[in-house]
Amino acid sequence: MQFSIPFPPKDMFVSSGALVLLCCSWFSLFVNGESPYRFLDWNVTFGDIYPLGVRQRGILINGQFPGPDIYSVTNDNLVINVHNSLTEPFLISWNGVQQRKNSWEDGVYGTNCPIPAGKNFTYNIQVKDQIGSFFYFPSLAFHKAAGGFGGIRILSRPLIPVPFPEPAADYTVLIGDWYRASHTDLKARLDRGKRLPFPDGILVNGRGPNAASLTVVSGKTYRLRISNVGLQNSLNIRIEGHRMKLVEVEGIHTLQNTYSSLDVHVGQSLSVLVTADQPSRDYYVAVSTRFTTPILTTTAVLHYSDSRQPVSGPPPGGPTDQIGWSLNQARSFRTNLTASGPRPNPQGSYHYGLINVTRTIRLASSARLVNRKQRYAVNSVSFVEADTPLKLADLYNISGVFRLGSIADNPTGAAVHLDTSVMPADFRSFVEIVFENYEGIVQSWHLDGYNMFVVGMDGGKWSGASRKEYNLNDALPRCTVQVYPRSWTAVYVALDNVGMWNLRSEFWARRYLGQQFYIRVYSPVHSVRDELPIPANALLCGRAAGRHTRAIKA
Ligand SMILES: *[C@@H]1O[C@H](CO)[C@@H](O)[C@H](O)[C@H]1NC(C)=O
Ligand SMILES: *[C@@H]1O[C@H](CO)[C@@H](O)[C@H](O)[C@H]1NC(C)=O
Ligand SMILES: *[C@@H]1O[C@H](CO)[C@@H](O)[C@H](O)[C@H]1NC(C)=O
Ligand SMILES: *[C@@H]1O[C@H](CO)[C@@H](O)[C@H](O)[C@H]1NC(C)=O
Ligand SMILES: *[C@@H]1O[C@H](CO)[C@@H](O)[C@H](O)[C@H]1NC(C)=O
Repeated sequence: MQFSIPFPPKDMFVSSGALVLLCCSWFSLFVNGESPYRFLDWNVTFGDIYPLGVRQRGILINGQFPGPDIYSVTNDNLVINVHNSLTEPFLISWNGVQQRKNSWEDGVYGTNCPIPAGKNFTYNIQVKDQIGSFFYFPSLAFHKAAGGFGGIRILSRPLIPVPFPEPAADYTVLIGDWYRASHTDLKARLDRGKRLPFPDGILVNGRGPNAASLTVVSGKTYRLRISNVGLQNSLNIRIEGHRMKLVEVEGIHTLQNTYSSLDVHVGQSLSVLVTADQPSRDYYVAVSTRFTTPILTTTAVLHYSDSRQPVSGPPPGGPTDQIGWSLNQARSFRTNLTASGPRPNPQGSYHYGLINVTRTIRLASSARLVNRKQRYAVNSVSFVEADTPLKLADLYNISGVFRLGSIADNPTGAAVHLDTSVMPADFRSFVEIVFENYEGIVQSWHLDGYNMFVVGMDGGKWSGASRKEYNLNDALPRCTVQVYPRSWTAVYVALDNVGMWNLRSEFWARRYLGQQFYIRVYSPVHSVRDELPIPANALLCGRAAGRHTRAIKA
């Protein structure tokens, strides 16, 4: 058994057990031996980046693109002071971080007021009962197309066994499609009612072809935490001459199968182990778009430390088979029921397959022109932002911001219309959600605040009979699920986290043009045991401006 704690990062010192502050951007304070507090100070700026060889205006965090990794351990309290030095409002959201009882810190416009240009806001986030690999990203406007994203890793606490030997090093690998056009040009195009064009390239850790490199020592094993932070494309990743052993998917230790290449859909994260067991030289890490014509490919380099031979020749090709291959691979991702998890009880003791479903929600996506402009919808509703964050409107009983039930539980077949869609849900209900895709592209759906047990996915139209093929034993609970073309994906979710939660397409133009809504998980009890009160530092805007954050909630 090994404990994987690759502290400290470069800018931190450890001396005789005490943590000494070196740089303002990253330090730790331990309070009463309880869950530590980690303070980060982030300055968000526009700055020049050249990922595809041409100058672009990127979003930097402390001068970096991509932004710095967040290192944390289960239950840590992250105190992240974000200074918005852009010329426009800004918010960061935390993909996969569950924000237990605390949608106040989720960082999407439905829960938080934007940080005005020139101002700062401090997020207080506890990574409660979680481990795993995730990422953060800017959630407003079309900022994600300019950067502002970075890796999040939550390590197991000391003494909690990790089901594989400690790797020699642990690398964040952020992959994503990329455009030469600025985020403002892309946003203007969407605002005019046009679709997002095909991307210009793929980046690995913010870099173009062969510019990103991972150094390994012969014979050693490395962990790669791979996230697809792009705007729309499913990507396939593979390493010339090497195999990847899957060990973790969005916070769950998996059955440790080995793969020669992996599909990572937009918004998804996973970890693999790679052993440097080949003759010492450099090898391609190839990343290419899936299900597209043409196929875009980029390469990074796996560099053996004593290599004298650079990469050469063609990079390894990706899978040629399309949907079937990918679907089979997805079905092979299973929970290791005997491996430890972040919770006090082993995950195997949580029999999601034995709980009775209390509600079935079927969600169908669609793409339509509304007033001759491109819109995307869920169950015929194309989401539009309100003038006030929904969570604040809910707290202060501000009417006219949203209506519960403004989106139906089932596809209606009605014409697409615009609304600020919010679906009501009862705290502690156990729901089945079926994502139905009648379109010809892969969709990717993300739910904030939760993991969703991916019980089934298949081609064709879902019906009650499809339940016979559900995996009720070792399905993977994840925060982002793909839905293949003309196919369905079914998930089970235990709605045990009170709050206002964004359910969204991770295809960023689709989300921007309406393919999202909020689920309001509600408890009539109003107890701080179920939901934390609004933070004292919450920004108030729209029709909530001027209210007091100390309003009686409990
Ligand atoms: C953020 O960076 C900008 C540009 O370097 C600088 O002018 C500004 O003072 C910085 N703000 C903070 C809070 O560090
Ligand atoms: C803004 O940053 C300063 C320190 O730079 C801090 O004292 C203050 O609490 C921050 N304000 C908010 C609202 O987070
Ligand atoms: C599951 O986890 C256990 C406990 O750590 C480990 O011994 C076993 O090899 C894992 N099984 C698979 C198939 O990965
Ligand atoms: C689920 O429903 C069945 C049939 O109504 C019932 O017999 C069973 O006790 C229920 N199980 C749970 C865990 O509530
Ligand atoms: C909002 O309305 C609910 C129920 O009508 C009530 O219990 C609550 O006190 C109200 N809150 C505020 C801040 O007015």
